[in-house]
Amino acid sequence: IDVNEVQEACRQLELHDDQLRLIMDNMNERFENGLAAEPTNTAAIKMLPSYVRGLPDGTERGEFLALDLGGTNFRALWVHLTDGEAEITSEVFRVPDYIMKGTGEALFDHLAKCLAKFMEEHGLKGREKLPLGFTFSFPCKQERLNCARLANWTKGFKASGVEGVDVVELLKDACARRGDIDVDVVAVINDTVGTLMAGAYKENTCNIGVIAGTGSNACYMEKVSNIEKINENSSSDHNEMCINIEWGAFGDDGALDFVRTKYDKIIDDGSINKGQQLFEKMVAGMYLGELARVILEDLARKGVLFGGEYEAISQHGIFPTKYISEIESEFQENQDSSCQFLKTREIFEDIGIPVVTSADCAHVAYICSLVSRRAAHMVAAGIATLLKRINKPFVTVGVDGSVYRFHPTFAKLLDAKIDELLERKHKYKLMLAEDGSGRGAALVAAVATRLANEHQ
Ligand code: BG6
Ligand code: GLC
Repeated sequence: IDVNEVQEACRQLELHDDQLRLIMDNMNERFENGLAAEPTNTAAIKMLPSYVRGLPDGTERGEFLALDLGGTNFRALWVHLTDGEAEITSEVFRVPDYIMKGTGEALFDHLAKCLAKFMEEHGLKGREKLPLGFTFSFPCKQERLNCARLANWTKGFKASGVEGVDVVELLKDACARRGDIDVDVVAVINDTVGTLMAGAYKENTCNIGVIAGTGSNACYMEKVSNIEKINENSSSDHNEMCINIEWGAFGDDGALDFVRTKYDKIIDDGSINKGQQLFEKMVAGMYLGELARVILEDLARKGVLFGGEYEAISQHGIFPTKYISEIESEFQENQDSSCQFLKTREIFEDIGIPVVTSADCAHVAYICSLVSRRAAHMVAAGIATLLKRINKPFVTVGVDGSVYRFHPTFAKLLDAKIDELLERKHKYKLMLAEDGSGRGAALVAAVATRLANEHQ
């Protein structure tokens, strides 16, 4: 069996620039729809106002608590901002699957329990109340900084009774039920917003925040006069607000049907939110491994891979996204010499496929590279759309997330494709903007606290 058969099976995963340009046009149109006045707004992309109106300027100071829910890890953080520096103490807690999919009350009780433990351990319980920034990385309708109604769950969460409800109230109620902690939630932000803030703290040209992690999304600074739906038209072009795009939902209205493959449909069918987050399901860490797995399963069933052994690879979730990174890294590092595929073989041994040939390994690496390249190119189309829209002389794009950080070529592919799609006409830079949920949440909390004090 030669490589052509594998290539043929995967042909649909390759996106040409004309297709990516069409994605850009479709996306920009949805951005416009999403910003339009609410009554006519049937847009798949929500374009959620964050009520974050300005970027940090390095003068932010003080001590803050932060909670970070929605990425790979749930964390509690204690952040001290001084002289342009952030000192961060944090602890990771587990959110078991049954809690993610149980009742809202149990989920928020769990968050409050972890926060109480963290505050106890760091001697923060008896002290004066510290302002808390809550990075809650799901689509929320906000009317102000410290009120955020969950629109719908995404990624692996499905706790009941939270959609349509203000998560600040849920957190406060959970703390009140315990009775030992009381929190002052001054801001709820999306992780993209935290990333943008953390990026802007370092470089003031940072106007876009992107997450390429478990989920995928972006935010950017938009002129308030363009945000029809907040009904707050400002005459000044300089008056901006950060918009949480929620581009994961791009395609939910059919806009991506022309590039979705049968494999993408299998992923969607097997998900807990069928028909939703279709762009995210093609690009984000929660799905990339599974996408590779269904392709491998298909080829194994056809007898093209693993000598036709398909049972082990047919198990949902058995091929996490980190395998893609490990397999591609090994392949790249050993391309010149005679590659032994030690790591790749170990992975398939763990999965339960004992006989894997070198040809199998090379094909698997090739499939993984197609899946991750398509993801990088689609995210590139999103960032290129934004850079074109913002149209400033130079824009820094703050990026974070496990796919961006840990995949061996994602960042490079992303950068190269953005430049190509923009025909090198826009100057920009991608920058790893670390710890948006710590630094970023504290910065937003700092600005919110300052404004509240000014208005007293
Ligand atoms: C982290 C940010 O570094 O990246 C989080 O601090 C964010 O706020 C996360 O949610 C996204 O990446 P992942 O891969 O954990 O989903
Ligand atoms: C999902 C969430 C979004 C978040 C992204 C990255 O798309 O809906 O709010 O920013 O994941 O974590």
